Amino acid sequence: MAGGAIVNTAGGKDYPGKLTLFVFFTCVVAATGGLIFGYDIGISGGVTAMDPFLKKFFPEVYRKKQAAQTNQYCQYDNQLLQTFTSSLYLAALVASFFAATVTRVMGRKWSMFGGGLTFLIGAALNGAAKNVAMLIIGRILLGIGVGFANQSVPVYLSEMAPARLRGMLNIGFQLMITIGILAAELINYGTNKIKAGYGWRVSLALAAVPAGIITLGSLFLPDTPNSLLDRGTDDIGEEYADLVAASDEARKVEHPWRNIIKRRYRAQLTMAIMIPFFQQLTGINVIMFYAPVLFQTLGFKGDASLMSSVITGLVNVFATVVSIFTVDRLGRRALFLQGGAQMIVCQVVVGTLIAVKFGTSGIGDIPKGYAAVVVLFICIYVAGFAWSWGPLGWLVPSEIFPLEIRPAGQSINVSVNMFFTFCIAQAFLTMLCHFKFGLFYFFGGWVVIMTIFIALFLPETKNVPIEEMVLVWKSHWFWKKFIADEDVHVGGNHLQMAAGNGKGADA
Ligand code: BGC
Repeated sequence: MAGGAIVNTAGGKDYPGKLTLFVFFTCVVAATGGLIFGYDIGISGGVTAMDPFLKKFFPEVYRKKQAAQTNQYCQYDNQLLQTFTSSLYLAALVASFFAATVTRVMGRKWSMFGGGLTFLIGAALNGAAKNVAMLIIGRILLGIGVGFANQSVPVYLSEMAPARLRGMLNIGFQLMITIGILAAELINYGTNKIKAGYGWRVSLALAAVPAGIITLGSLFLPDTPNSLLDRGTDDIGEEYADLVAASDEARKVEHPWRNIIKRRYRAQLTMAIMIPFFQQLTGINVIMFYAPVLFQTLGFKGDASLMSSVITGLVNVFATVVSIFTVDRLGRRALFLQGGAQMIVCQVVVGTLIAVKFGTSGIGDIPKGYAAVVVLFICIYVAGFAWSWGPLGWLVPSEIFPLEIRPAGQSINVSVNMFFTFCIAQAFLTMLCHFKFGLFYFFGGWVVIMTIFIALFLPETKNVPIEEMVLVWKSHWFWKKFIADEDVHVGGNHLQMAAGNGKGADA
């Protein structure tokens, strides 16, 4: 997975922020990558709440759902149903290892093209599915597509983006994820109205739209940085010089895996593992994957439950925009701590509201007004996530690694994230059945732990040039003991290479 070097390539220059056609294409493709990922996250929950879909593929779940006075917490507990959702993330995790090699050997362009094509086939299989096997094989193909796209697109982006715009593009990618989720939820809302019962097919098949864009888009992209250099194109101006610097620097990184386990990188290694782990343990994907199912559990009938997830989807998008404008002013820590506190309060409130109505038997009815209050608190929770752990879960790991360990650090971050996304997707419906309302306390407890973790162990990184990041760790009360004085060399080649680049990378 270490195929892509995320390289800091300002070359000491300050670009006028010119967006060349070349960079623009990169952004479009990168954005599509976010949309693909988001569409997948958002589509499965709505589809698994549709009766015609359940009747056809998961009749047992459908029967439980119809049975009066059933235990609300357990009606969806079904391993096969969870496999439908989670298979994609496991496939993506495995595929991203292979994608690293394909990306290196054949270039980003063909990696993206292959990913897009695989994704298209997956969408077609899903839309035309006749049995559960077709559904799950389709999901696996989608996952392979996501694995390839998520491996190649960010690498491509980091190599191409002007330093000054790189940070902005980072959170832009997360914004696209949230827009993809929302688009999927809106589509589910519409297709659920199709009386003939094939709405789920339309929802699943429409994944072909972002897939088509990335497949076609990749054909228009210049091949790879290296072949670009070979062709001697010079109409891309300053970015060209950046490319040369990027590939030169990338080549210097020889043993990222051996380096990252060195004692002096203990802080960065810890963050590369803990931040994505904690991001998933906020429980956010319980809402993203299973919101319609969760809302049905709470007594909302079909359409209303999809509508509620559309609302959470909107909150997710708008709250992400808030982080774009505050992250460099308030700083990462302030957002982490505030967002964490907000999530904890909401999780306790939601857990308690559900406990009061359903108790441990899981049998009961929730009146409309009461359910609306539950949705409100779920929205406040989503907002808290969307301006803290959502974007920061990707931003912070990407800005704390020195060049030497950046590829390895970034790989660990991505794979840990995918792994725990898979775990949550696979386990949630069973956890809901066994933990009942306590599930909300469970995730709330984790948010308490991660908020304390941030307070104690994460130094503020806003506006710190990446190359001076070692100073931040060196002056941290805990991490300083892992860094010997001779490990701190901020001067020299790297600092020169990227002088004046810190702000841009932070944004
Ligand atoms: C997370 C996803 C999550 C999404 C929600 C991302 O940062 O990695 O797992 O579904 O945010 O917007």
